[in-house]
Amino acid sequence: MNTTDTGDLHAHAHPHHAGDDAGTVAMAELLELDAEVLEGYVSELTAWLGELAVREPGHIVDLGSGTGTGAIALAQRFAQADVTAVDLSPQMLRRLSNKALTLGLADRVRGVQADLNEGWPALDPSDLVWAAASLHHMEDPDSVLAGAFAGLRPGGLLAVTEMDFFPRFLPDDIGVGRPGLEARIHTLLNPGPAADWTDHLARAGFVLEAERPFVVNLPAPLPAATARYAQVCLRKLSSHLDGRLPADDRAALDAVIDGDGPHGVLRREDLTVRTTRTTWAARRP
Ligand SMILES: C[S@@+](CC[C@H](N)C(=O)[O-])C[C@H]1O[C@@H](n2cnc3c(N)ncnc32)[C@H](O)[C@@H]1O
Repeated sequence: MNTTDTGDLHAHAHPHHAGDDAGTVAMAELLELDAEVLEGYVSELTAWLGELAVREPGHIVDLGSGTGTGAIALAQRFAQADVTAVDLSPQMLRRLSNKALTLGLADRVRGVQADLNEGWPALDPSDLVWAAASLHHMEDPDSVLAGAFAGLRPGGLLAVTEMDFFPRFLPDDIGVGRPGLEARIHTLLNPGPAADWTDHLARAGFVLEAERPFVVNLPAPLPAATARYAQVCLRKLSSHLDGRLPADDRAALDAVIDGDGPHGVLRREDLTVRTTRTTWAARRP
């Protein structure tokens, strides 16, 4: 599957490398900021899954959990549930465990280190499987979905979420360089249409309950974490441009990302957050 699109929060994190390499540290920070800034959206999503669930989940599995945005939010939403967070990266799982400990959830949230490309790990049957921004990383998502299907109890739910486009932050006229800088960057990176998981789910035996887009549009002024989130996201986009940006746009982007001046993203008071994510909710009959 595609792991280089701009809708991919995880590209370049090198999950196969052990140790706290710079890519994993940067990715973990991005995921943690994502969780903080988009907390309202995650809460809306877990509440919706609560409405779709036919019974209170007793065991939830988070596939490709990263630093635990989903696992923690699900443990908070479903107070009766044990949550198993599966990830390839021990560094991500360590952060997740620390967060669970801090929030008093350590007895209900546990991490399992496993490479889902190597097959389905030994897990207890579950009532809800969550896979956010992770399935497209898998070499064979169909076999992961087949594992999820087999691991769910009848009536259990699967929620697959993917990002439609990478978050955008800047007003069109950013007051430096030509207007429309951010739009030009996204056009250059051109991730193409987002994947549709409907057929994959049907092949694994799931019955689609709903496909729901979540449109996030947070207006200015926003809390301080937003500026850092914007900086980390723009830096990531910038690293993908590989010299394709014209010199004036490159200078403008650098001034936005790292500048101390009024255009610098950490000083701006006009940032907004615009992103769309889609969730496919499907049931094991
Ligand atoms: C973009 S992050 C998403 C993290 C989290 N679900 C979230 O929404 O914040 C993708 C995660 O999938 C994990 N991952 C990638 N390939 C994997 C594999 N083959 N097996 C298990 N985890 C994998 C990565 O280590 C990373 O933590």
